[in-house]
This record gives sequence, structure tokens and C-alpha cells, in this order.
Amino acid sequence: MEAAREHSVDGIVADCGGGAICGTCHVIVHPQWFPKLEAANNTELALVEFAPESCPTSRLSCQLVMTAELDGIEVTVPSEQIPY
Ligand code: FES
Repeated sequence: MEAAREHSVDGIVADCGGGAICGTCHVIVHPQWFPKLEAANNTELALVEFAPESCPTSRLSCQLVMTAELDGIEVTVPSEQIPY
């Protein structure tokens, strides 16, 4: 989430600043990368369940801790989140 905001990625609003409250940092993780992520906690699971375009590889980007193993991770920002 922080990297996306620093690079002005459309659709990553992050209203709560990373508190896992708003759901406006929802991303869809490429299936190849999803198994490499730490598991989501119940709060995150509850939020992504109701996020626009939620799918089995949905995550809150603010909860993803970047590591060297995740270098190159591919995610998609749901189109409904992008303000036009
Ligand atoms: S920034 Fe609010 S849930 Fe991620």
C-alpha cells in the first residue's frame, strides 16, 4: 500500500492509513504469488470479502509485508476502486 501510494497508483486510496479498517487498498494478487504471502487475519478476511471484485486471492495491500521473496509480486487493482 505504501509503495502504491508513493507511486500514485490509481485505486489505492488507503483512507485508514494502513489500519485494516477501510478496505480501500484492496488488491487482487496474481495466483502465482498468493501462496508466498503470510496468511490474512480474520479482520482482513472480513473486509476483503465485501470489497469490490473480491476473489480468492484478494488482499488488503496495507497488510502485505514486503520481503525479498516478494520482489516482483504482481497485483491488480480492482477497476471499481479506480476513481474516474
Ligand atoms: S489502508 Fe485501510 S484497509 Fe488498508
